[in-house]
Amino acid sequence: MRDILEKLDQRRDKARLGGGLKRIDAQHGRGKLTARERIELLLDEGSFEEFDMFVEHRCVDFGMDKVEKIPGDGVVTGWGTVNGRTIFVFSKDFTVFGGSLSETHAAKITKVQDMALKARAPIIGLFDAGGARIQEGVAALGGYGEVFRRNVVSSGVIPQISLIMGPCAGGDVYSPAMTDFIFMVRDTSYMFVTGPDVVKTVTNESVSAEELGGAKVHASKSSVADGTYENDLEALLQLRRLIDFLPANAEEGVPEWPSFDDANREDASLDTLIPDSPNKPYDVKELITKVADEGDFFEIGETFARNIVVGFMRIEGRTVGVVANQPMVLAGVLDSDASRKAARFVRFCNAFLIPIVTFVDVPGFLPGTAQEHGGIIKHGAKLLFAFSQATVPLITIITRKAYGGAYDVMASKHIGADVNYAWPSAQIAVMGAKGAVEIIFRADIGDKDKIAARTKEYEDRFLSPFVAAERGYIDEVIAPHGTRRRVARALAMLRHKHVELPVRRHDNMPL
Ligand code: HXC
Repeated sequence: MRDILEKLDQRRDKARLGGGLKRIDAQHGRGKLTARERIELLLDEGSFEEFDMFVEHRCVDFGMDKVEKIPGDGVVTGWGTVNGRTIFVFSKDFTVFGGSLSETHAAKITKVQDMALKARAPIIGLFDAGGARIQEGVAALGGYGEVFRRNVVSSGVIPQISLIMGPCAGGDVYSPAMTDFIFMVRDTSYMFVTGPDVVKTVTNESVSAEELGGAKVHASKSSVADGTYENDLEALLQLRRLIDFLPANAEEGVPEWPSFDDANREDASLDTLIPDSPNKPYDVKELITKVADEGDFFEIGETFARNIVVGFMRIEGRTVGVVANQPMVLAGVLDSDASRKAARFVRFCNAFLIPIVTFVDVPGFLPGTAQEHGGIIKHGAKLLFAFSQATVPLITIITRKAYGGAYDVMASKHIGADVNYAWPSAQIAVMGAKGAVEIIFRADIGDKDKIAARTKEYEDRFLSPFVAAERGYIDEVIAPHGTRRRVARALAMLRHKHVELPVRRHDNMPL
């Protein structure tokens, strides 16, 4: 028996070396960790249970029957825990055929995808891979199809997260694209359908990998990535932090962690957060962190469409999604990018039973040809659709402006929010006073005194929360310092909210 155990250890040691020491050194030389080192950092110490360590490829084309077979075939798969909660993981091993996907490599991934779905636990993909194994041809393409289909079947059932930690091409960008969140490591990770060489051949365009699909491009321009991190270590530690916020699946509800922050805590500084001038900005993240348990806020998509802020906080130890207009950027206006960003986030929260708190300070939708031609009607409708469709607890706080269609869209009572509060500084109107008076009293435009009087009249009547409160569209006008307590109480009241929607195959949201 001892001999057999020794042999087992030897086979395991060989598998753990992946593509060999030389390639491991090269990986480290590029500032990257190996597939196994990454798993060690992601999961609780000693919790990783590996599957399929000895799987090998079966390809015989292009001399593949002559090269040494590497056990594991370029991906490390299995499960473990993050702060005690079960997580499935696959981690591409760039030292083995560049982490490329063969038929057997795909079967390893689909095995953990199936298990994650059965176990109703999140699945994390750590990507560092060159797409389909070129030598395998259609067998590899078929493998990707199997992975893609499972991504879709699991969507909205279990959280799926992708962390891009190296150059990723082909199928290794399309599978992440169908998961809930994508994060990238700065300077070492790229995502593109085809790399710079192919781009040069097809379009004659010279572009570096970084310019084509680096972390900065995807997090601030294309919106493919939801965040970027300095290095592998930071990315994995932040991923652990995100997992702590997420439910295990669509039915379980949000995790509950011990909280040492009093739900009744008041914050007097919020009473002076809104500047005296309606055109002066303030940082809505200050409001979010003052309301959140222990000031802890995990932002999603920080560098894209910064005029809207989305992310996770906790109230009384339980996860809450936050959507907030950001007056610091474009006065918090809703444009196509902001609408898409927030819509996707709202749908994630709704799919996984995460209540949503919405902070509103929005001057309207951004006018202009660029937006109209870019499809703001359809993109804005995505957010309207997402909020209207949400059946999770929805709490809305209007801090200042809520103008026009954006008032309706930003989780108003009319589209299904449960509890709608306004600060005394709220202005709920079709538009700002100047614009309104110039339209309805166009004939008086030459008469400055008359216009000033009309403007004052409009401000007094409409630029307050009270017209909406008189109609019950606002449930209560609240003092800013008590916002956390009000939110906590509303969430507690709505804990068992239940809404039935008509039976249908699925909706047809404006994609
Ligand atoms: C087989 C591959 C490979 C692949 C890399 N390697 N990609 N082997 N199939 N797809 C191998 C290399 O031969 C090399 O082997 C090792 O991995 C490291 O690769 P390098 O090129 O030396 O590394 P680097 O310079 O860092 O470049 C990484 C890379 C590049 C950008 C990923 O390798 C690359 O462009 N690969 C091809 C990408 C691609 O076009 N894939 C197909 C996409 S189509 P040795 O033995 O030297 O270590 C696709 C179809 C699905 O995925 C689409 C579904 C929608």
